[in-house]
Amino acid sequence: QTFVIIMAGGVGSRFWPYSRNKRPKQFLDIFGTGQSLLQMTYNRFLQTAGKDNILIVTNQQYAELVKEQLPDLEQDQILLEPARRNTAPCVAYACYKIHKKNPDATVVITPADHAIFNEDKFIATVEEGIFAAQKEGNLVTIGIKPTKPETGYGYIQYSEEKFGAARKVKTFTEKPELEWAKKFLESGDFVWNAGIFIWKTSTIIKEYENSLPEMAEAFDDGMEHYYTDTEQQYIDKAYTQCRNISIDYGIMEKANDVYVVLGDFAWSDLGSWGSLYDNLKKEENENIVMGAELLPYDSHSNIIKTDKDKLVILQDLEGYLVADFEDVLMIVKKDQEAKFREFVNDVKNKK
Ligand code: GDD
Ligand code: MG
Repeated sequence: QTFVIIMAGGVGSRFWPYSRNKRPKQFLDIFGTGQSLLQMTYNRFLQTAGKDNILIVTNQQYAELVKEQLPDLEQDQILLEPARRNTAPCVAYACYKIHKKNPDATVVITPADHAIFNEDKFIATVEEGIFAAQKEGNLVTIGIKPTKPETGYGYIQYSEEKFGAARKVKTFTEKPELEWAKKFLESGDFVWNAGIFIWKTSTIIKEYENSLPEMAEAFDDGMEHYYTDTEQQYIDKAYTQCRNISIDYGIMEKANDVYVVLGDFAWSDLGSWGSLYDNLKKEENENIVMGAELLPYDSHSNIIKTDKDKLVILQDLEGYLVADFEDVLMIVKKDQEAKFREFVNDVKNKK
């Protein structure tokens, strides 16, 4: 049986002011389609797993938001974390829990906040990944052809050795230094890790036992509690003992038998306004407008987002982000992400 685990507990601070602690970007309707990124992710995976086999892992703080946005889910499908400990505990919790009732399960683990544009190709890639993961021992990832030396991603070096459509991975390097990212990009046999993982619960449990033994013990001791009244209480305690570490550093960098399926669909991590701009269809003057109607005069390559239907008039503006949201209006150069982080840190405590 195949399950889908949606990791929806991150904060997404580079998407300020839309993404904030109380409502991070996965809960926002970024594209103005009437659906949040979480809802889009859920719908995208419905045919892979079916609605009873989709689990959401999120912080307790967002329990109500998840229920509101995905009213079809049963209580047991929403896993609530008492603290932010990054993705290694999040994945462990869901995998051990599923394993209790379905020891032969295969799981697809996905971020909640990505944009994927050719859904049919995406689904086909995931299917290939599921096939490769069903061989005992394989950890499967999805690779995206890199376009720049981005240091916020994991880099996967693959070989020609294949299992189905999946290629054997030589190295997995999470968030390399810029110098390395440049080398990886040039060498041509590296892809970005899309952040989607596919494996059998029995396989990943062995990996936790090898690479993160304390975490393995904590979630294995929970077996008697999952699907019972004492689950939440147990988890609240277990998390106090978990290290804060991502699945990439904690498991993937160390694992053998990793395979990658090369994805042939348009993908964006939506990590920042700049990456959103890069991935959306532009208007004739290379502007992107969301929520507003734009009258551009000699203005191009801007990204405009408003939360109310507004008429926006621009003159002689190039390469800017204009984000109008509730009590904040932000107008900044869209490609200066380092500076952007600085501004946001300055104001985050105020707003
Ligand atoms: N439940 C839960 N709890 N979810 C979390 C937590 C947590 O403590 N921390 C992060 N998440 C969720 C985020 O909401 C997001 O959907 C997903 O897990 C990935 O976390 P990010 O924090 O966005 O990771 P990243 O973007 O820095 O790096 C990962 O994704 C890249 C691709 O987007 C890595 O897997 C990289 O290797 C990869 O290239
Ligand atoms: Mg991310």
